[in-house]
This record gives sequence, structure tokens and C-alpha cells, in this order.
Amino acid sequence: MFQSHTAHSHLLAPRDYSAPEVYAAEQRQVFRRAWNVVASVDQLAKPGQQLAIDIGGIPVLVRNDAGTLRAYRNVCAHRHSLVAPAGFTCQSKLRCQYHGWEYGSDGALSHLPDGSSFKGWKATNARLEQLRCEAAFGLVFVNPTAGSGSLRAEFGSVSPALDQHFVDLSLRWIQITEHDVNWKIIVENAVEGYHVPMVHQQTFVTYQDERFHDHVIEPMFTQYHDLKSAEPARPRDVAIDRLLFRSKRLWGYSHTHIFPNHLLSWAGFYREWVIVEPLGPRRSRRIGYGFMPNDLRASGALAPLWRVAVGEIARRTRKMADKILGEDSSLWDSVQRGTEASPHAGVLSAREERVAAFQQWLVAQRDSPGATSAAPITG
Ligand code: FES
Ligand SMILES: [Fe+2]
Repeated sequence: MFQSHTAHSHLLAPRDYSAPEVYAAEQRQVFRRAWNVVASVDQLAKPGQQLAIDIGGIPVLVRNDAGTLRAYRNVCAHRHSLVAPAGFTCQSKLRCQYHGWEYGSDGALSHLPDGSSFKGWKATNARLEQLRCEAAFGLVFVNPTAGSGSLRAEFGSVSPALDQHFVDLSLRWIQITEHDVNWKIIVENAVEGYHVPMVHQQTFVTYQDERFHDHVIEPMFTQYHDLKSAEPARPRDVAIDRLLFRSKRLWGYSHTHIFPNHLLSWAGFYREWVIVEPLGPRRSRRIGYGFMPNDLRASGALAPLWRVAVGEIARRTRKMADKILGEDSSLWDSVQRGTEASPHAGVLSAREERVAAFQQWLVAQRDSPGATSAAPITG
């Protein structure tokens, strides 16, 4: 059932989806203070592998330091160059790309090339700023704000469900697409099923009666559980599952939105964790990490066959994910364009109550302590 049975106000104004100052405020108030997915654990699995990206406008370097993942502000203490160039690289030492200053794993300066030319200057305080980094659920998370809660504390009561569903998995695909729309257009589209009969004519076809929906609305997340798909699972799927994997699982489809931009799905042996990164007021990157269970039943000579079978299931699942994304994204440009020219306030139905909950959370961030300050990044 839905949690509410009346319409909701559309709290975000049309300009919130395109105004540069709203985008800049969200970078400061939302993304700099959030746990952001930066990569899968697999992508940074080897010592020396590193990734330089921007989070909320802050350059961040995440690095595998002899098996431990660490994050730093990617700004050199010498003359402010980015220590590492954007994207994935591999470097045995944490060394700045400009003049070669080297830093230890704690961020302290460890090697100063031609040190004698710095005579009279004290190097003791020269260091990279360390940021908080956690590996969990097969992914690497960074929070650029010192002093906020741990990943699990921030995610709140959804964490046990993630520990149950995102455990012992193999990464099977990464689906990266960019779109000329505001990030909230993509997120809001993902958390309501009202558009299904119009947009998903090749996949889901129609939306379900309210009695098959279980909506959960919590301070830090919302969920949709499809009660119709929960039990019984199709016998064919159960047989394939028993044959391939040792673990048991629940079959119902669930979709979770952890604010601001984590969109998770699980059903049977399929798991996907999608994030939507804001790249500009009208530009976003959507990254989907697709996982399947790790615990193949077959070992030894049979294991390669089982791996092929799981690979084929992953290929088909990814194909379906592409198809659904294609249907959804075909509408996003129209929503963005209309939003920019809208004279209306908009309105949300009870069926769209997860959108309403997201908008309420986002508006509350504007009013929370420190939200309007320009640079409360370090503690
Ligand atoms: S700016 Fe990094 S070593 Fe000079
Ligand atoms: Fe959709």
C-alpha cells in the first residue's frame, strides 16, 4: 500500500532543475556532505590503482595504498596542481604530477625533490588533506566532509538490508551514460511507477494495483517492494538458481532510493546499484553497477561451464537494463525542456509519494545547519 492517499505539493520549483545557483548550492549542501560512490571495489583492487574525480566541486583522489583504500583532496601542497590527472591511473607512489612531491599514506610530505632549494622553509605541515573513504557493498564511497557520520550511520536503517543483499557478489557490468538533463529528473523518474504504462510499453507495460505496492518512507531513504513478484518465484528461475548458486535468496523485486542519488534494485540473483552524478545544471552521468552472486555451486572442472551460464544470465539482464533505460531516457529531454519553460507549480500523486519524500529531504538540506555556508568542508 501507499503511505499516503492524497496528492502532495511539488516542492521543487521549475528553476531548481536548471538554475546554475541551485546547482552550485546543491554541490555544497548535498554532495559535499554525502557518501558518494566513486568506483567499484574491483576497479581499485590492485595496489597503486587510483582514481581522480570531482565530488561536489572538490577534486578527490582515491587510491589503493598497499591494499588499503584511502582518499585525499587531490590538491598539491606545493603550488596547488591536481596531484593526479582525472580518471583511473596506476602509480606505485603518491606523487604529484607537476614537480614530483611525494606523500605518505597519511598524506604527509615524504619526499621533496631538490629539497636544498627550499632552505628556510619548514616542510612539517605540508600534507595532502585526507578524506573519509569506505569500501562496502562491492563499492568505494567517499565523503568529503570531515565529522559527519559513518557510511552505515548515514544510510540509517536500510543498512541491514544492504548487508543482506549486497554481500558476496561479483561485479558483472558497469553501465555508464550521460544525459543533458538535471540529475533530479533522472532520480525522480526512477522512484515512481506512474509513468510505466506510457513509457514502458516494451517492458513493464502497466502499473500495478496499489495493493501490490509496499512503499517504505524513511528519513534517509524510500523503498518500493513489489508484493506481486515476491512469492512464488517462477519454478524455472528457482531451478536455475539452485543449480548455479549455493546461497538462497528472496525473489521479490525491490527498489531503494537512498538520498540523494543512490538507486538500488534487487530481485532473485540480480543486483544493481545506480548513482546519478550531477555534472552541471543540465548535465548528468548515470552509472549502474550490476552484480550477481559469487558462490557458484560447481567447482573444479565444471566451474568454467557454470561461469559461462552465469555470464549469459548477466548478459541478458544487462540487455534488459539497457532496454528499460532506453525507454526512460527517451523522455528525459522532454521533461527537462518542459521544466525550463513551465509556468506551473506541478503536483504529485500518492503513487508518486517517493518523489515527494525526496523533494522534502532536499528542501530540508537547504535549511540544515551549515548548509548555506560556502566552504564548511573540513572539520
Ligand atoms: S604543484 Fe605539486 S609538486 Fe609542484
Ligand atoms: Fe521507468
